[in-house]
Amino acid sequence: MKELQYLNKYFVKYKFHFLLGIIMTIASQIFSLYTPKLISKSFMVIEDFHKNGLSSQAVKAELIHNIIWVLITTLIAGVLRFLMRQTLIVMSRHVEFDLKNEVFKHYEVLDQNFYKRNRTGDLMNRISEDVAKVRQYVGPALMYSINTFISFTVVIIYMYNVSPRLTLYTILPLPILAFIIFKLSQEINKRSTIFQQYLSTVFSFTQEIFSGIRVVKAYGLEKQYKNNLDDIASESKAKSLSLAGVQSLFGPLMIALIGISNLIVIYFGGMMYINGTIKSIGTIAEFILYVNMLTWPVTSIGWVSSLVQEAEASQKRINEFLKIEPNIKNKTTDSNPRGEKANKKTTIQGDIEFRNVSFTYEDTEITALKGISFTVKKGETLAILGKTGSGKSSILSLITRMYDIKEGTITIDGKKIDEVNLYDLRKSIGIVPQDAFLFSDTIKNNIKFGKENATDEEVIDAAKKAVVHNNIIHFKKQYETILGERGITLSGGQKQRVSIARAIIKKPEIVLFDDCLSAVDTETEEQILNNLLEITKDKTTIIVSHRVSSAKNADKIIIIDEGQIIQEGTHNQLVNQKGYYAELYLKQLSEKELN
Ligand SMILES: Nc1ncnc2c1ncn2[C@@H]1O[C@H](COP(=O)(O)OP(=O)(O)O)[C@@H](O)[C@H]1O
Ligand SMILES: [Mg+2]
Repeated sequence: MKELQYLNKYFVKYKFHFLLGIIMTIASQIFSLYTPKLISKSFMVIEDFHKNGLSSQAVKAELIHNIIWVLITTLIAGVLRFLMRQTLIVMSRHVEFDLKNEVFKHYEVLDQNFYKRNRTGDLMNRISEDVAKVRQYVGPALMYSINTFISFTVVIIYMYNVSPRLTLYTILPLPILAFIIFKLSQEINKRSTIFQQYLSTVFSFTQEIFSGIRVVKAYGLEKQYKNNLDDIASESKAKSLSLAGVQSLFGPLMIALIGISNLIVIYFGGMMYINGTIKSIGTIAEFILYVNMLTWPVTSIGWVSSLVQEAEASQKRINEFLKIEPNIKNKTTDSNPRGEKANKKTTIQGDIEFRNVSFTYEDTEITALKGISFTVKKGETLAILGKTGSGKSSILSLITRMYDIKEGTITIDGKKIDEVNLYDLRKSIGIVPQDAFLFSDTIKNNIKFGKENATDEEVIDAAKKAVVHNNIIHFKKQYETILGERGITLSGGQKQRVSIARAIIKKPEIVLFDDCLSAVDTETEEQILNNLLEITKDKTTIIVSHRVSSAKNADKIIIIDEGQIIQEGTHNQLVNQKGYYAELYLKQLSEKELN
């Protein structure tokens, strides 16, 4: 129960639901106890008819009276039971909602390293499956525990008042019932977890085939994959049948045990009636009803304990994630890692300086940057060129503070980067990553991702500047075209340009282009670069590229190789210098002439 204590704050938050639920449970129990009493009374009346010669008229009147009361009290108990569910189960849905949001919010502040360590499936599982299991604890498990506790107390007091000895006989088999149900529920849960886990294998397998269907068909591998799926599906069937096997024991077992309890009441009750300890047959009928009222609560003890065990395990997994502190902290908002109560907004000018920066990726231990130094002032453009794997993207990741450095200093407007408000920093940056990511949403919303409240005019303007407007208006639904999984697929170059529009619409102080013109032809590249000149007139711009054409207008160019700067200067300086840049320039010049 240690892990589940985390949820106590929610019980405090929803204390009114909680208290009201308890009151409803007690009230409903009390009303449902009228039935056995009334039945017992009815038996007594019939006995009176035989023994003491009560008139049949009077018996009939009394029986009808009792029947009406049974109906009324049962109805009231039913309504109260409904309200009990409405308060307690509704509370659990609220908690589920809150907990999901809490986990999601926490996911959002965690950094890249966390996402490298944990698989998407696992993240999804904890936010859906695990939270659902925890809800079972807050909802049904809690409700039935309260219910059981109250049923027991109330029913046993009632029984005890009628006959202490018969009470003892009646409840004797119940602990055995509870134990068996507990064992059975444990087994059911175990097998159901195995089955669930296996289902996720089935899903990942089929999902991969569906997404790669083009490759599968092109290579004529349908048959092989079908066979593979057959194997996986048979395995899944076996696991599901093994689950069904134990599940089907549940009902019959319960009925058998209720039956045994009933027999005990009839046997011992009968004996006691014969020797006169019990005055009326009605008492036996009353006890049979009590036993039946107790069976469900007893069953639920077993069931609830296995639910609690499961919830405990799930909450443990959730807590593990919630306890992880992001490595990248926003120091300016004192200790709150979520940066919610952000202090006053800092405006970023855009002066960037790297001083002797070295950087090693923690997980791979690859040293991506070694002693990098450069400055870009507000309004300037820096171009970074170099082979793949030389460390260009890593430089940009450090500017957006996806990682923190251990050696050297990076300053923004003369302030150390980790002392600048993280959220303000990222808000002032418009980055176009190397692998443009678009959501399966409309083109318009994908562009508006850069600026939530942008108008349609702004979206179109940004698309025009990114030279993608003419492509978009040729789609049937234009800006409303859905992209991705359920929509059309854009070409590599179109994707890059939509991604550029997204960065432009933000009107950021710092613009970072990570090799995002690689899939567009040189002519379009030229147009985009021209538009960019105007947009970034007084902004800081860094363009990463492997083309001289993207770099030649920059105020400064640096060439990096294996994480080190090997050349720097302007275009004119560098073409006249023997080295990587001049070679690249000549090579690309001759390619252009060939075209
Ligand atoms: N997220 C990452 N985790 C671990 N290593 C990385 C990561 N990104 C890049 N690297 C490594 O760092 C080096 C520099 O990569 P990168 O900055 O992406 O180069 P470029 O952008 O110039 O192609 C490479 O050796 C690459 O394998
Ligand atoms: Mg790169």
